Amino acid sequence: MREKLIEFRNVSFRYDEEGPWVLKNCSFSIYKNEWLAIIGHNGSGKSTIAKLMNGLLFPQEGEIIINGKLVNEETVWDVRKEVGMVFQNPDNQFVGTTVQDDVAFGMENRGFPREKMIERIDSSLKAVQMEDYRLTEPHRLSGGQKQRVAIAGVLAISPEVIILDEATAMLDPRGRHQILKTVTEVKDEHHLGLITITHDLQEVVQAERVIVMNAGEVWKEASPREIFAEKEQLQHIGLDLPFVALLASELKELDVQLTHDPMNHDELLEDLWTLHSKM
Ligand SMILES: Nc1ncnc2c1ncn2[C@@H]1O[C@H](COP(=O)(O)OP(=O)(O)OP(=O)(O)O)[C@@H](O)[C@H]1O
Ligand SMILES: [Mg+2]
Repeated sequence: MREKLIEFRNVSFRYDEEGPWVLKNCSFSIYKNEWLAIIGHNGSGKSTIAKLMNGLLFPQEGEIIINGKLVNEETVWDVRKEVGMVFQNPDNQFVGTTVQDDVAFGMENRGFPREKMIERIDSSLKAVQMEDYRLTEPHRLSGGQKQRVAIAGVLAISPEVIILDEATAMLDPRGRHQILKTVTEVKDEHHLGLITITHDLQEVVQAERVIVMNAGEVWKEASPREIFAEKEQLQHIGLDLPFVALLASELKELDVQLTHDPMNHDELLEDLWTLHSKM
């Protein structure tokens, strides 16, 4: 049995007492060390889920359990030691005048002792290859470098899970690839859980499991392959297929007999070669 890290039990949330329910009776579990992607149309409730996981918001109905603790006002600071979050726009998350101040901020907030802070600033900046920028002012950094520093700040608190809420959305494909590579390396090395909230379908394809949100409800929970097999339904709820899956589905319509549903270029190539060698 895999160990549960985060559990949503019948969670409903709205921003206003009078307003619409933004999350409706959502139940799901996230396990230790797994990479879970959350996708869904704009406004489907993804960022709200992220904020609930970090105790930035609390549900009106239902319960959220993180590492065995019920999330509420009393446990919120414990919870924040276990859940690190990086948002889309790094500029909104910078508070320090130098990179190292900034990395220290999350630790200061959580009452880390000074020696530990110094040690962690070093190791987390190294992990994201930003150790040469310790004294740089954050506004002098590129977008990708800013996100690296934001990730270092999260790593420094040594969480159980890192949530990236569209954290690579503002980067070019190369920057996106690099950040993801850094994060997955750190994930493997420190046995962290990773939750990526994303429009980037490549990130979804690489994840182990996917939760698809639709209008505040959990629409589906499955592997990327199972999710992308439901082409029409995905499009119906406002989502696209990754390029390779789309191409494969068009080929199938042309009666090209692919052996399975390829998810990446290598799998597609392999299928096409197999076909070719049978001709
Ligand atoms: N602070 C707020 N006050 C009131 N309503 C809000 C607030 N933040 C979000 N909402 C509403 O809650 C719903 C869910 O928003 P949320 O940001 O969780 O969606 P999302 O899936 O992250 O969307 P996106 O893909 O655009 O980031 C939307 O209808 C949004 O307008
Ligand atoms: Mg969002």
